[in-house]
Amino acid sequence: MRMLVTGGAGFIGANFVHQTLRDHPEYEVVVLDALTYAGNEASLAPVREDVEFVQGSVADADLVDRLVAGCDVVVHFAAESHNDNSLRDPWPFLQTNIVGTFALLEAVRKHGVRYHHISTDEVYGDLELDDPAKFTPQTPYNPSSPYSSTKAGSDLLVRAWVRSFDIHATISNCSNNYGPYQHVEKFIPRQITNVLCGLRPKLYGAGENVRDWIHVEDHNSAVHTILDQGRSGETYLIGADGERNNREVLGLILELTGQPADAFDHVTDRAGHDLRYAIDATKLRTELGWSPRYTDFRDGLAATIDWYRANEGWWRPQKEQVEAGYAARGQ
Ligand code: NAD
Ligand code: DAU
Repeated sequence: MRMLVTGGAGFIGANFVHQTLRDHPEYEVVVLDALTYAGNEASLAPVREDVEFVQGSVADADLVDRLVAGCDVVVHFAAESHNDNSLRDPWPFLQTNIVGTFALLEAVRKHGVRYHHISTDEVYGDLELDDPAKFTPQTPYNPSSPYSSTKAGSDLLVRAWVRSFDIHATISNCSNNYGPYQHVEKFIPRQITNVLCGLRPKLYGAGENVRDWIHVEDHNSAVHTILDQGRSGETYLIGADGERNNREVLGLILELTGQPADAFDHVTDRAGHDLRYAIDATKLRTELGWSPRYTDFRDGLAATIDWYRANEGWWRPQKEQVEAGYAARGQ
């Protein structure tokens, strides 16, 4: 099995490469990553000897064609992934998330290679706080931000390539991931590293927004389940029933790091801030038999805090610039 993993130097992609080589040491893994500000080759250090690393863009059609030609499967993680950045400068989101996906689809179509598309629950928009509903594969697409609209667009390209060109492809839409190697711009690592740096954590608005947290290892085990058993053309929603509002998550970080419960600042809210995400993963659980393993959020968060404590050299180089950017926007 020769597998092309795009975005393998990012948060979820790097964890996916680690998990893949741990569970399938016989696989050949090729990583294609542009090493944008969000990519970090150091995230692959523990497996560097076992991975073929290519620095380049998924939007480079010639490069993508050459790499896909020699592979059995493509798992496409590469993306511009941060909502806040997409509000400031949407163009890289269109280029990577739409044009990049297009280049991969044309290559898998030409070479008859199986394709798995990593997407997000944000394509469905948001839910009210008191709505008992969760997102299902039947929920209509209704994305809110430039980020989520480009992810929605890329999902629709995949569906069209399945229908029109009969490519062998699956899609997964997952909720919010946490765990090691997540960039310090994101909510959980930002607050943990703020505490470790002696800065006050920052909560957007009142902090009532709900996210459905899943450990990155569970997201990736679900992707492997879909690669092994998923039906072509199908969409699978990945989630672990981890709904929590941002105030609760921050409260737990403060408690686990020994900080007073009020040691944080409320800052300017995100424009168009989605209120609540929630995943109904029944299809994945019942049809493919997947279940999550990291179901104790408190334990998973404590382990994540320990990881950031032990790996300051990994995140410290980005921290100052990220915080300067947030401060300039009152966040
Ligand atoms: P990330 O920002 O940590 O990593 C993205 C990676 O893609 C980086 O290594 C970056 O260098 C690379 N990249 C960016 N542009 C590229 C390009 N043009 N060509 C090649 N590589 C490029 O993102 P993440 O959080 O690991 O997300 C990975 C995927 O999972 C994305 O598709 C995202 O939409 C999806 N997703 C993320 C979450 C989450 O909670 N983080 C949840 C659901 C789905
Ligand atoms: O739902 C899946 C999505 O989850 C993925 O598609 C995205 O790639 C990923 O970034 C994530 O999107 P969010 O916008 O939900 O994640 P973020 O970490 O940016 O923010 C999580 C919540 O925390 C959100 O309600 C905004 C809030 N927040 C964020 C930051 C950075 C704060 O309150 N303070 C902060 O400093």
